[in-house]
Amino acid sequence: MSGLKGKVTIPGDKSISHRCVMFGSIANGTTEIHNFLSGADCLATIRCFSTLGIKIETDLSQSKVIVHGKGLHGLNAPSSILDVGNSGTTTRLISGILAGQPFNSELSGDESLNSRPMKRIIEPLTSMGANIASVLQNGCAPLYITPAQLHGIHYDSPVASAQVKSCLLLAGLYADGETSVTEPSLSRNHTELMLREFGADIRSTYEIGSTKATASIRPCTDLYGQKITVPGDISSAAYFIAAGLIVPDSEILIENTGINPTRAGILKVCEDMGGDITLLNERTEGGEKIADILVRTSKLHGTTIEGDIIPTLIDEIPVIAVMAAVAEGTTVIKDAAELKVKETDRIETVTDNLKAMGADVTPTDDGMIIHGGNPLHGTSIHTLLDHRIAMAFSIAALVAEGNTKILDSKCVDVSYPTFYDTFEALL
Ligand code: S3P
Repeated sequence: MSGLKGKVTIPGDKSISHRCVMFGSIANGTTEIHNFLSGADCLATIRCFSTLGIKIETDLSQSKVIVHGKGLHGLNAPSSILDVGNSGTTTRLISGILAGQPFNSELSGDESLNSRPMKRIIEPLTSMGANIASVLQNGCAPLYITPAQLHGIHYDSPVASAQVKSCLLLAGLYADGETSVTEPSLSRNHTELMLREFGADIRSTYEIGSTKATASIRPCTDLYGQKITVPGDISSAAYFIAAGLIVPDSEILIENTGINPTRAGILKVCEDMGGDITLLNERTEGGEKIADILVRTSKLHGTTIEGDIIPTLIDEIPVIAVMAAVAEGTTVIKDAAELKVKETDRIETVTDNLKAMGADVTPTDDGMIIHGGNPLHGTSIHTLLDHRIAMAFSIAALVAEGNTKILDSKCVDVSYPTFYDTFEALL
């Protein structure tokens, strides 16, 4: 395969796009969103808030969305079950909002979503006084939520999860006192940054001498609509970062990418692996750091990825594993048991597919060990409908001998509908 050369513009960040719609819906006035990601997950969020009576105008060809917020107490009782599709972020964050509403609601998603763990929000929301139940009593969606007065709590979360943290902070908007969440290491902080812009009384602190981080919120009477330009999604940029590093004779400029430190662990890992990456045009917009990323082909070597960096790159591990399979030497990924509860069990889907391509990889309880350097060969990739597996293995295909077939390749629509167009334009 000859070198990949050119510029790539990455679609809007998925986590930030969800939050713009959610916070805009419960704010007063209009929220105007530019560079909105029209992936299936974010469209599920729009669908849910429309069902809750929020007028949302979309011009998806221009990636523009206008949310006509109705204030903290303006949502209507839904006339049907809220369909959250494949989206864990929609499910967990909206549950925090719904727990504080004076009406009943039910949420349900696709097969993968309805098998993901929801106890992690049911338990702390219940401690806040919420009435939230797993309809099948299996700790998963469908979830049924009925009205309750919420109380502020302090929650010591066993997992570093932005979805759990955000769920509780959103419920905290409707509580009768302060709500705070401490997590073992800092997960993505878009909720904290953006809710502050919307006028919420929200703070974050780090414990000195520890990696623990606490975010707290006090109830307020109003949030205010904002104008937001969503940065490019570093989780989507990750595929082109990897492609630029592993395909010989490549040079790719990835423009306008969010590099919030709680998301940018992949940049540190690439550097540790010997990757040639330069950040250009660094700036901050709406509290979020952004840069253009210049990537050039590099001779990669193995590394160890563990501890606090894991939440900052959790969604990038499939493509990092692909880079590790191509690198010289051994890469160890640990402390990443959360991979098991993503859209698929990503320890299994990554290691099974890498093995099928000829890589030397061993799954572990909380990650994997990859002895890089085995030549990869084309095969059929079983994505199990997981968008990140489809995209990570499309990158592996670029350096594999022979043809690779990505099964159910359309699942990329979840987070990056134009992935294959961008990919082909570089070839
Ligand atoms: C997300 C948080 C992460 C991430 C997911 C999006 C968010 O999940 O994997 O893709 O937008 O808050 P967890 O909070 O479960 O780690």
